[in-house]
Amino acid sequence: MKPDLLRVGAPRISQPGSRQIACVAVLADNPLAVTHDVAADLAQTLNLPLAKTSAALTGLFLTVTETGLELRDGRDPRLRPLRVDFTHLDLRPYSANLSRRQPLTRAMGKKSRIVIDATAGYCQDALLLTLMGFRVSAVERSPVVTALARDGLRRFEAHSGMSLSGRLQLFNDESRNFLLVSALKPDAIYLDPMFPAKRKKSAAIKKEMRWLRDLVGDDADAADLLAVSRRVARDRVVVKRPDDAAPLAADPSMSLSGKLVRYDVYLTRRG
Ligand SMILES: C[S@@+](CC[C@H](N)C(=O)[O-])C[C@H]1O[C@@H](n2cnc3c(N)ncnc32)[C@H](O)[C@@H]1O
Repeated sequence: MKPDLLRVGAPRISQPGSRQIACVAVLADNPLAVTHDVAADLAQTLNLPLAKTSAALTGLFLTVTETGLELRDGRDPRLRPLRVDFTHLDLRPYSANLSRRQPLTRAMGKKSRIVIDATAGYCQDALLLTLMGFRVSAVERSPVVTALARDGLRRFEAHSGMSLSGRLQLFNDESRNFLLVSALKPDAIYLDPMFPAKRKKSAAIKKEMRWLRDLVGDDADAADLLAVSRRVARDRVVVKRPDDAAPLAADPSMSLSGKLVRYDVYLTRRG
């Protein structure tokens, strides 16, 4: 089945009261091909069983195919698989995605060079920040989400012929620990925790966001992560919020509004 491609810049809406659902297994699309060995390695890394068939899988599971890593849903096999895809990105320097005039870039500040994206998710924002010229360390605590993002970045490099090495590094870690032990001294720390769940269910909720929430939950500890980030960032912490949500901490220094979202900036200025 053709996968749905997770496109950069798609608006995000949250679903209320969803509970976290573990990824249950790794599967090779073609057990006779090289995908089998890749799936076996991935299963070992993620400490998940290597499934022989999808027949008995009743949760989310990863499938290694010859063209990329996919997330599939055993609860509803009719749903198309999801893969992280950056190959369609418009890489021209003045394209809308990469414009330095957009609110995200302005929120990061003119002097910021070194950025930690402490809620990397599928690395959509981390890659855009990298392509805008920041040096980015992206940290994601879900091993499954990290694997999907890593696969998307690998295919982006192969497709664009562009190496991200030295410009974007992806770590699978809990950011509250990472920030406290890392030797990196980031100018800015970027946070994009899961948006608060909306009370009214909407059919328009994108499958990738439903599945992301299934995998990672609600990020209920986001205010703690902000507090740690404010102790570490040299210049600022930038938090992405839905335009109608309260700030994560009561005292942002300024806010910049974008399409459906707001960037709250907490200046730290410790040179
Ligand atoms: C909404 S997603 C981020 C989306 C991301 N900005 C993108 O462009 O793809 C939030 C992600 O942050 C991760 N996260 C939240 N708190 C974290 C923490 N303390 N350490 C590491 N990852 C965290 C979650 O697991 C989730 O994948």
